[in-house]
Amino acid sequence: MGKPRRMTLVTLAALAACGGGDDDVPESPVGPIPAYEQRDGDAAAGWRALVENGYVGCGVPRSAYDQVFNPAPTWARLDRGGTNATVPYNFTSFRTASGVEVVSPNCLQCHAETLRGQLVIGLGNHTADYTDDISGLAVLAGGLVSDPAERAEWEKWRDRVVAVAPYTITKTQGVNPADNLAAVLFAHRDVDTLAWSNEPLLPLPPDIVVPVDVPPWWRMKQKHAMFYDGAGRGDHARIMMTASTLCVDTVAEAQAIDAYFPDVRAFILGIEPPAWPFAIDAALAATGKDVFEGTCARCHGTYGDGGVYPNLVVALDEVGTDPVLASGAAQFAGDYVRWFNRSFFGELAFLAPARGYVAPPLDGIWATAPYLHNGSVPTLAALLDSSLRAPYFIRSYDTSAYDEALVGWPSTPLAAGQDAEPDAERRTKIYDTSQLGYSNAGHTFGDALTAEQRRAVLEYLKTL
Ligand code: HEC
Ligand code: HEC
Repeated sequence: MGKPRRMTLVTLAALAACGGGDDDVPESPVGPIPAYEQRDGDAAAGWRALVENGYVGCGVPRSAYDQVFNPAPTWARLDRGGTNATVPYNFTSFRTASGVEVVSPNCLQCHAETLRGQLVIGLGNHTADYTDDISGLAVLAGGLVSDPAERAEWEKWRDRVVAVAPYTITKTQGVNPADNLAAVLFAHRDVDTLAWSNEPLLPLPPDIVVPVDVPPWWRMKQKHAMFYDGAGRGDHARIMMTASTLCVDTVAEAQAIDAYFPDVRAFILGIEPPAWPFAIDAALAATGKDVFEGTCARCHGTYGDGGVYPNLVVALDEVGTDPVLASGAAQFAGDYVRWFNRSFFGELAFLAPARGYVAPPLDGIWATAPYLHNGSVPTLAALLDSSLRAPYFIRSYDTSAYDEALVGWPSTPLAAGQDAEPDAERRTKIYDTSQLGYSNAGHTFGDALTAEQRRAVLEYLKTL
């Protein structure tokens, strides 16, 4: 690789450079991650808080929302009464401090997804489309609001959306910009008071969004650190509540939210992955277990009774997957790591990115396609055999179209990437692995196996 690789390195340096002098930015070593003390919580209370409380802090006035959106279809409703009875699972209607009823996206916007006709809470959303700038819509919504108190709430929400929108546009449908979103929100907040500033207080990240596939929540019962690069250390509940950085503007409000986030974490820890819904060849899976334990378990652990998960960060050189996220990009750049660690969030938790990726627990892995941290591999068959990975492809966004044979999402390889596609609508459906952050290289640990061994491991993975 000549020129393209050089360009990648230059852009990588630019992404990491917004940190400035990084002496006081902690970096985690590769290898085992230690356990950190966590606060206990009540899972049932956590569920109610997750889907009823106003931890995002602002939203679209309910009166405007009701003019645009119909009541949610039955399948998309939760067991919520009152004001949320007809609101879809991924939004919450709540009353702000100024007494205005508003609707905002909740955690399930990214952390729930349909799978073969069923809504699965905790499964990462891999179909949402972040390829458009939505700030125009946020501005237009103002035309639906006339009451002064409601207008004030709308303006607050609009300002935040306008600030983050240009930095959260992905190249492809299905990948998530949350790591960039966090960086921009940190940059607009006073580190001591959490007060919002329409002018950024820190340099903003490059508007090249680092694409991420949303991980499933059921891994958290085993993981010692949050995030793909293992950056989320210390108290996990405190890190989870960074979703409140959209509109929560005082430390007192953040403290009130923090008080119930151990409950939200307890709910997340109770989530079990869905079981493989098709037949399994038990003899083949038993062979696959032996191969897995010889080839994969040193990083991913063992499963079933007495299973042990090693909580390992694997160095970039060894895993070989796309390096951008684990090279100090997005919220993991120096300025934002420093901001987090000095802020209210840093009192109980800290960010300390590693130059590598966590080998995740593989429970329920059949359900979490596409694979790798950037969602660049649509099936487990291609994850185990890198010769099956296409440089350019369009994958299905229809969550009922599961590919039972290859284990994952159907996809169609293409001869060329995004730059060769004139139609804008179709372009954003193309997963183009030559784009920065989108590479499907690396993790070639299955390549050395025989085809028969790979078939056996694939069968075993279905049982996890
Ligand atoms: C805009 C989408 C989005 C929203 C909203 C969101 N998350 Fe996430 N979340 C992500 C993405 C993407 C990651 C992975 C980031 C990474 O590892 O670099 C993540 C990671 C996590 C993790 C760590 C998982 C792991 O395996 O390391 C937890 C736990 C989590 N989120 C909880 C929450 C909670 C609780 C909320 C609501 C308060 C929330 N998230 C809101 C997108 C979102
Ligand atoms: C040297 C350590 C190591 C070995 C050996 C290893 N893996 Fe991994 N694996 C990783 C790391 C690290 C990741 C995360 C890479 C990323 O997201 O960029 C990963 C990711 C995966 C994923 C994707 C998870 C997801 O949700 O995207 C699967 C599936 C997987 N490995 C299965 C296997 C299997 C099966 C084997 C044996 C054939 C294996 N791995 C061997 C370290 C390893």
